[in-house]
Amino acid sequence: MYSPHDFHRRGGELYCEQVPVARIAQAVGTPCYLYSRKTIVEHVRKLRAAFRPLRPLICFSVKANADLAILRLVVREGAGLDIVSKGELYKATLVKCPPERIVYASVGKRPDEIETALRQGIFCFNVESEPELEEINAIAGRLRRVARVALRINPDVRARTHRHITTGTAESKFGIDRRTAARLLRTHDAFPWVRFIGLHLHIGSQITEAGPFVEAIRRAGDVLARGRRAGLDLEWLNLGGGLGIVYRDERPQTPREFAGKVLPLLRALRVRLILEPGRLIVGNAGALATRVLYVKQGGGRRFAVVDAGMNDLLRPALYDAYHEIVPVRPPPGSGSGSIRYDVVGPICESADVLARNRRLGTLEPGALLAVLGAGAYGSTMASNYNGRPRPAEVLVAGRRWALIRRRETLRDLVRQDVTPASLVR
Ligand code: LLP
Repeated sequence: MYSPHDFHRRGGELYCEQVPVARIAQAVGTPCYLYSRKTIVEHVRKLRAAFRPLRPLICFSVKANADLAILRLVVREGAGLDIVSKGELYKATLVKCPPERIVYASVGKRPDEIETALRQGIFCFNVESEPELEEINAIAGRLRRVARVALRINPDVRARTHRHITTGTAESKFGIDRRTAARLLRTHDAFPWVRFIGLHLHIGSQITEAGPFVEAIRRAGDVLARGRRAGLDLEWLNLGGGLGIVYRDERPQTPREFAGKVLPLLRALRVRLILEPGRLIVGNAGALATRVLYVKQGGGRRFAVVDAGMNDLLRPALYDAYHEIVPVRPPPGSGSGSIRYDVVGPICESADVLARNRRLGTLEPGALLAVLGAGAYGSTMASNYNGRPRPAEVLVAGRRWALIRRRETLRDLVRQDVTPASLVR
């Protein structure tokens, strides 16, 4: 089973590395995100080791977790960053990510975003349409700077995952179909300010098997061959992200197993490799600690109302995603005979359910729970809905820990508001 992490029990009590989760929750309040530095670093290293023969460029996907401390950590580990906006580029600059390790995807890059990224000299744009390619060529010409481009191929491969996070099928909005891509490569003279360096794929997220990747690589290989026949030096293949982790009972491949399946194909294609992992690096490095406010019953169900809601962790509400929830200290009566709870947040939405029907012992108000697997797409998808400041975030390293993002204040909630006297009296 792949998904080693550093949340474990000692004397019944839940620890993150060598720090009791309860101690952190006590110090910074709840809800709060906490992350293990060791898990993050080890995931980057394992992935790199698995693909070592190809000297891969690993670009951590900023959308999975955009805390500056975490970005800084992965950049210090030698990783680059996969960005999708000027905002993420700004963060990449703040953490001193070398521009030659930044790749930029997104179906909707604005002209000002393209210009900024070009001026900063990022490694390449992952281009998702013909009009975008034309736009990049025009802007690059105006700036007299050559833009490096990888065409994002839509391989029309279905990865078995949640329908909201599969991206490689023909009807999805992502990428360029193979025929169009081959034509664009053949007519490369029409884009004098573009240097085509290779191809990009990203077929979806939380994929636990190699099959769909293998098929996508085969299909991209065909386009690659055609591009090379047209005289282009296509050196890079970007496989995107998507490597799955354990949330419940998944049995995802290890990086080594994955590499075992795809390395031979990549060698045969004579390409260098880019990977854009997000979830694999941070997913199970993080947990969301939350406190039980009330326990109530109704309609034959028992609810644990907690102080974290869908504004803090959206995945269960949005994707029906399963996150393991564990008591931070073993409550009385825990074990197989224990009571089942629906763990719900305080938000005024029926979808604000973090988990259903979980055995959690006997919960009392004040009990601390940890929602596991919350390191990826947790804090980045948090919002202020229902007037709720976003949680504090903490990084743990061995016996030490530190705040990496302070809890938002009430003042933060209204910082951007303006009340124009001319319109509102
Ligand atoms: N590269 C591209 C072009 C992407 O669109 C994504 C994720 C990644 C890399 C990173 O994928 P990962 O390795 O993390 O699977 N919010 C959803 C996931 C959406 C993924 C969007 N794209 C969730 O919470 O499951």
